[in-house]
Amino acid sequence: MTALTRDWLNSLPKVELHLHLEGSLEPELMFELAGRNKVKLPFSTVEQVRQAYEFSNLQDFLDIYYQGAEVLLVEQDFYDLTWAYLEKCRQQNVVHVEPFFDPQTHTDRGIPFATVIKGISRALTDGQTRFGITSRLIMCFLRHLSEEEAFATLTQAEPFLAQLTAIGLDSSEKGQPPEKFSRVFTRARELGLRAVAHAGEEGPAKYIWTAINDLKVSRIDHGVRATDDPKLIAHLIASQMPLTVCPLSNTKLCVFERMSDHNIMEMLHKGVCVTVNSDDPAYFGGYMTENFVALAQAFEMTEEQARKLVKNSIEASFAGEARKKEMRALLQ
Ligand code: ADE
Ligand code: ZN
Repeated sequence: MTALTRDWLNSLPKVELHLHLEGSLEPELMFELAGRNKVKLPFSTVEQVRQAYEFSNLQDFLDIYYQGAEVLLVEQDFYDLTWAYLEKCRQQNVVHVEPFFDPQTHTDRGIPFATVIKGISRALTDGQTRFGITSRLIMCFLRHLSEEEAFATLTQAEPFLAQLTAIGLDSSEKGQPPEKFSRVFTRARELGLRAVAHAGEEGPAKYIWTAINDLKVSRIDHGVRATDDPKLIAHLIASQMPLTVCPLSNTKLCVFERMSDHNIMEMLHKGVCVTVNSDDPAYFGGYMTENFVALAQAFEMTEEQARKLVKNSIEASFAGEARKKEMRALLQ
């Protein structure tokens, strides 16, 4: 059997459910925005920035990621960031996306919530008009901040509910259990928003249980630590609770030492609804196609397995039934 080629994987219609817009900020755009906004960067060349992207854990990465986001100041910056990601999606045949943004990273620097969401939403609208890429936007709370700060952010989001589909939970996981945010998730669900949460990336399988039971999420972001708990794996299979797995992220952040150690294919084989995503592609060495290629190289992935991974993403997405039907047809 021959390995799946990059061309085949690139032209496979794909869906992305776990992508931080701030994590798609390529060093070239970072420099352009720093120049435009007169923000001083601690690097003098794009090569120096790329060399700094060696991480030994999640916190190592987050420190650099929050620093990078400081070049984003005005609405057009958020538009340009989102647009650059959508251009990548078009090149890689990603037909539907559900990106995250971290408003607190920006509002804590004095940027109005409206500036952030208007820039992102305008680009997503143009992405649908010009490229036919459909989208649903997810607003994340930073879990290293307080419940009170999450409530304040939800209040700021209320005038923009039409632009939002779901809330999420990200940032440093260890010592920040999902249940810290139970009440704000309940309030968001009362406002009609769906819920997702990062859980079981570096944190324990227990956090996956509390994200499901306390936050009532529709999907788990990452969730790779689920294989530590056989009862949880059985529950994920029975409920078909989706996991948005990010293979290159997990090896870059040393969750797995090598791609061949990754458990996504084992979970797929067992019947867990796993999906492939890029997380923070500018920092982790690749977008959707590169993530599929990395898996195809480490495992003898078949066309059927690649299609099943995309099919899981379609079913796990927040797209309406008509759009899901269109996307299923693209995979035939
Ligand atoms: N924010 C951006 N990327 C993240 C990740 N992989 N885990 C938690 N928070 C994040
Ligand atoms: Zn993530």
